[in-house]
Amino acid sequence: MTMDAEFYSRVAERFGGYFSDARSTDVFPDGRPDAVFDELATALGAPHARLLDVGCADGRSLLRISPAYGAVTGIDLSPSMLECAERYRAEADLPHVTFELCDAAHTKLPDGYADVVTSRRGPLIAREFERVLRPGGFVVYMGIGEQDARELKETFGRGQDFGSWNGRPLAEGIAQELSDAGFVVTRSQAFRFEEFYHSAGDLDTFLHQVPIVDNYDPAADMEAFDRYVAAVSVDQGIRLSRHWFIVQAQKPAAVESSSS
Ligand SMILES: C[S@@+](CC[C@H](N)C(=O)[O-])C[C@H]1O[C@@H](n2cnc3c(N)ncnc32)[C@H](O)[C@@H]1O
Repeated sequence: MTMDAEFYSRVAERFGGYFSDARSTDVFPDGRPDAVFDELATALGAPHARLLDVGCADGRSLLRISPAYGAVTGIDLSPSMLECAERYRAEADLPHVTFELCDAAHTKLPDGYADVVTSRRGPLIAREFERVLRPGGFVVYMGIGEQDARELKETFGRGQDFGSWNGRPLAEGIAQELSDAGFVVTRSQAFRFEEFYHSAGDLDTFLHQVPIVDNYDPAADMEAFDRYVAAVSVDQGIRLSRHWFIVQAQKPAAVESSSS
């Protein structure tokens, strides 16, 4: 297992899936990114369409959009997440959805198998997505932007994509990777939003659920944690500023050869 998959397996074992019960009040001035992602992926569905979701984790986000498709495959590298996914799938009674332990870089699916590939805060492997999509098929990707939780990372002195806030926007890099693999980028949308954690305990729980601060350790990180909470506490709660983005791209349809 990769370190990433080991982290997510610990999350699944601790919280029974990808989401914890950390309480927050969230404010979305640009719209709710998961709702926009659901709308985009659902609109691309059809009764016979095949969807591949990479980095599906506990599958709950995927199960929401699955009714729009005829066949759905969710893949992940974390066995514990996939055990949760299988449980949620059975509860939702969606037999056309299957989950597999598989690396997104080598899906083993045939060329042109999928109509749509989604990755929601999961990996982006542009060349493999291009191979596995049919001509005219779409990829919908949700990523974490360079300004995400910046103040928290600055306070801790480390974190996911630390320091990237001074560089090229991460969404631009993703769009470039997709273009380089032959896709046409059809949408790029940024979402800035605020989460207000109800207590220090809720923020602590959340930091165990996500890899925003790598190797988060409540004892070793206590001084930075307390400093952050003191700096960002407001009436609504303990503020965490988020930055996510969605990029959608299409594999060009095959060009008909003309005969004279
Ligand atoms: C942030 S979670 C995704 C959450 C999920 N997509 C959702 O929206 O609820 C990222 C997931 O990607 C998985 N992952 C990371 N690299 C992967 C790879 N190369 N192939 C398959 N899964 C991968 C991790 O194991 C983890 O479960």
